[in-house]
Amino acid sequence: MENDVILSVESLTKAFGGLYALKDVTFLVKKGAIKAVIGPNGAGKTTLFDVLTGLQPPDRGRAVFLDREITCMPAHQLAGIGISRTFQTVRIFPGMTVLENVMVGLHHRTGCGFLKAALKLPSERKEEKFIREEAFSYLEMVGLELMAHFPAGSLPFGRQRLLELARALASRPKLLLLDEPASGLNTYETEELGEILREIAGQGITILLVEHDMGLVMRISHEVLVLDYGEVIAEGTPLEVKDDPRVIEAYLGSEI
Ligand SMILES: Nc1ncnc2c1ncn2[C@@H]1O[C@H](COP(=O)(O)OP(=O)(O)O)[C@@H](O)[C@H]1O
Ligand SMILES: [Mg+2]
Repeated sequence: MENDVILSVESLTKAFGGLYALKDVTFLVKKGAIKAVIGPNGAGKTTLFDVLTGLQPPDRGRAVFLDREITCMPAHQLAGIGISRTFQTVRIFPGMTVLENVMVGLHHRTGCGFLKAALKLPSERKEEKFIREEAFSYLEMVGLELMAHFPAGSLPFGRQRLLELARALASRPKLLLLDEPASGLNTYETEELGEILREIAGQGITILLVEHDMGLVMRISHEVLVLDYGEVIAEGTPLEVKDDPRVIEAYLGSEI
């Protein structure tokens, strides 16, 4: 694999019944980049993430992350090698505090379970303090530090999305897969999210982003991949794909 490539997706193919959700999908993601995956509803974007994160086995093809094949690797192992994802629908623990939600992500990483933490031996107490501080730093990254002790379920929807992002950061990923992080956010929240994603990428974390909000995609992505009916129909800079006749046609077709 070339030095500046973090993820190589090679001929990924996945069919449901007779229908291709992914067909020969091939692309590279460069280290430190924000790459967006766009396409009309049903284009295969979520399926791509599901195959990349071990939730669905591909029929054909493979994905390689920093020289390691990750196809069919389970989520906890992916987290261990530096890949973490968020989902199209928010998945948080509503009864736990905002801070605790992020701490869960860290406990996974340290391998120290809640049971051990509950025993509170001096060494564990020290570790818990460390975990708290680090979790808090991720809340600061997404601007949720003032809400650290609120129940997560009491946050407005837009803040819950940011909480998910903070939790994904807690596994210290090298590659972050975000499935429609701006869905349900208002214009202001979407702009704020864009800034946060740019800062995350600035810290060297590569982002692969499925997103509907074209404004956001155009503002923050270095590269865009366009899927339609499971196939790659265009790839390039935001400006290049925006004016691509095949892309325009795919989007027009989807609105009729
Ligand atoms: N688990 C599944 N079983 C059957 N069909 C599925 C499944 N997941 C996705 N599909 C189908 O695969 C296609 C791509 O879906 P999806 O990846 O969710 O698209 P997108 O995220 O781009 O909207 C759609 O036609 C969808 O109905
Ligand atoms: Mg989807």
